[in-house]
Amino acid sequence: MADMKMMNSPNPFIKKKRPAVVNFHQNVSDFISPKKQKRENMPGLISADGSQQKPNLVRPGFMQDERKKLPIFAVRPRLVEEIQKNDTLIVIGETGCGKTTQIPQFIHESKLGKDGIIAITQPRRVAAVSLSKRVAKEMNVPIGDTVGYTIRFEDVTTEKTKLKYMTDGMLFREALLDELLMKYTVIILDEAHERSINTDVLFGIVKKAQRLRAENAKSPLKVIIMSATMDVDHFSKYFNNAKVLYLEGRQYPVTVLNAKQPQNDYIQSCLSTIFQIHLDGPPGDILVFLTGQDEIEGVAHTVRLAAKECKQTLRTLPLYSAMPMQMMENVFRPTPPNERKVILSTNVAETSLTIPGIKYVIDSGHVKARVYQPNTGLDLLKVQKVSQEQSWQRTGRAGRESAGTCYRVFTKEQFNELPKFTTPEILRCNLASVMLQLLHLGVDAYDFDFMDKPSQEALDAAVSQLKMLGAIESQETRKLTSLGSKMAQFPLDPRLSKILISSKTYNCTEEILTIVALLSGESVFLNSLNNREEATERHKKFFSSEGDHITLLNVYHAFNSFKTQKKTCAENYLNYRNLVFASDVRKQLAQICEQNKIPLSSCGQNTELVRKCLISGYFMNVAELQREKKYILVESKQRVRIHPSSVLHRTLPHYILFSEVVHTSQAYIRQLSIVDPELLNEVAPNYFRQHRLGTKD
Ligand code: CDP
Ligand code: MG
Repeated sequence: MADMKMMNSPNPFIKKKRPAVVNFHQNVSDFISPKKQKRENMPGLISADGSQQKPNLVRPGFMQDERKKLPIFAVRPRLVEEIQKNDTLIVIGETGCGKTTQIPQFIHESKLGKDGIIAITQPRRVAAVSLSKRVAKEMNVPIGDTVGYTIRFEDVTTEKTKLKYMTDGMLFREALLDELLMKYTVIILDEAHERSINTDVLFGIVKKAQRLRAENAKSPLKVIIMSATMDVDHFSKYFNNAKVLYLEGRQYPVTVLNAKQPQNDYIQSCLSTIFQIHLDGPPGDILVFLTGQDEIEGVAHTVRLAAKECKQTLRTLPLYSAMPMQMMENVFRPTPPNERKVILSTNVAETSLTIPGIKYVIDSGHVKARVYQPNTGLDLLKVQKVSQEQSWQRTGRAGRESAGTCYRVFTKEQFNELPKFTTPEILRCNLASVMLQLLHLGVDAYDFDFMDKPSQEALDAAVSQLKMLGAIESQETRKLTSLGSKMAQFPLDPRLSKILISSKTYNCTEEILTIVALLSGESVFLNSLNNREEATERHKKFFSSEGDHITLLNVYHAFNSFKTQKKTCAENYLNYRNLVFASDVRKQLAQICEQNKIPLSSCGQNTELVRKCLISGYFMNVAELQREKKYILVESKQRVRIHPSSVLHRTLPHYILFSEVVHTSQAYIRQLSIVDPELLNEVAPNYFRQHRLGTKD
């Protein structure tokens, strides 16, 4: 595993002053924007050349000067006019030009849609939170007042909220309660090019809500689709030939450098490049695109150690979804003179968040994405290659404020082999959850107006999974059972909803609530890189021989018994913030349980009941030991290993139930519980009649 290797391998930079250099050669100079030419010839281009009428914004206030400097500000009147004239509008503009932060404010200030709320959807939680905070600051209001945000398990809005930044998943859930989305007068579907599964479903839902509201002479709904880049014809056609506006951004030339030879290890290559720039390059901050939290923390650790040897200060700042918000604010702070910062980010900095001061981009060429495996019916998180379009977006981040350089740690030939565009998530993810929610809305996914329709096999696999979970009566009628309707109430994967509902039968709702809440958040274990052994030693007292799920339960019980929670968490290398978050999630789930008449019963020490209950939803997630630490998944026969973070890593039980599959250098299963054939047959007899245990590789 790449991230593990990083942490264990000797650091190449501590002894040597100069790391091994990746040789780059220049293959594209003066990159401006691959589509610049085309865009200029497009009708409807709004130019920020100053010839427009001066914007008429008189409201004095905080940060207004900064707003006025954004390219979008000059075209404000024209933009507002177009929004007024068109029910549906597609807006395309370079990342950082001000779409997400300014357009909602323009609409609000011009009193368009004043009778309702303006929703702005984001595929990523971290972007919804960060951008709403930025807008609240610009409007000089406390967050949650006029401007708020809603993400899963966290709602920072009030009656006063008019600009609501939210994840696409949350708006989808609101549609389950009101398919006309009457609360909203304007819905902005942002980052549309990312084609996240929920945004894709929202396209259809919002389009229908708009039509129904027009037909029934209810208050009209305006829909704006925004993006930095997109297949315009495809989008416009789907949205009934909606008008497309191109906003001019500021983009300085970026020199693109590719690696001369293919690199074996993209992490090592990124590290070498960081120091090559830091030691030799003129001032300017560095943005490195990596794949996920573990990898980023591993690289950050190495960079920090190596940077101690350097004369000039190098500030290392990670940027990923699960990081604390206060730390995220540091990323946006200007770098003091004579210092340089290096931001190690996931693809959130690709188009969602714009960081000032970046002059150098290092593109690892990789991204972590959810990938569906049709044969297993499971999604797995996999590190994979980016698309050419993603790589161009990353490149563009180097030329926001002045000319910059982008280092691609892969060759030009490798770039040419990358797919041109990223496949929409809906075509590569498990559809069970989406299908369940659509059925709850009274919509059959087979008839749904998708922009790109998922394959028959993917739809069939989702139906089959819902049938196995007991959520639908039959695969043919696809009518929701009462269990299915209940399952749709929970903002969870259908398997987890099923487990929560079954906990009533096994009298362990208290325990399952805890486990589900902890599985829904980030890790509660702190694995400090400096004191890894000590941390593991402290964690041992929570370990359960039954596996990770019961271990999580032990941690939570201990957490609740701590007198001084923050301090004791630190002493035990537990993540206090994630535990507090989990207890909040737990409260919210407990409320939904009560609404569904699921009493909060406890099984006490009888944790076998908890494992039985887990089987009720996870029976498709069982692995069987083969030889030499290798496991095979009962459902798909895929080969996997136990993830090193699991408490069962060394035990190697014969049968295990898992919560997820992760794929780095190979496939691992994570969050495990020991099970045995007797338990499996007792809880899911039908399934195990069809899927015989005792397979040999
Ligand atoms: O949506 P789009 O990519 O067009 O731009 P935006 O997110 O609205 O950001 C507009 C500008 O605000 C960017 O150029 C950022 O530099 C700035 N910004 C910032 O400085 N700090 C933030 N937390 C958010 C945005
Ligand atoms: Mg944006």
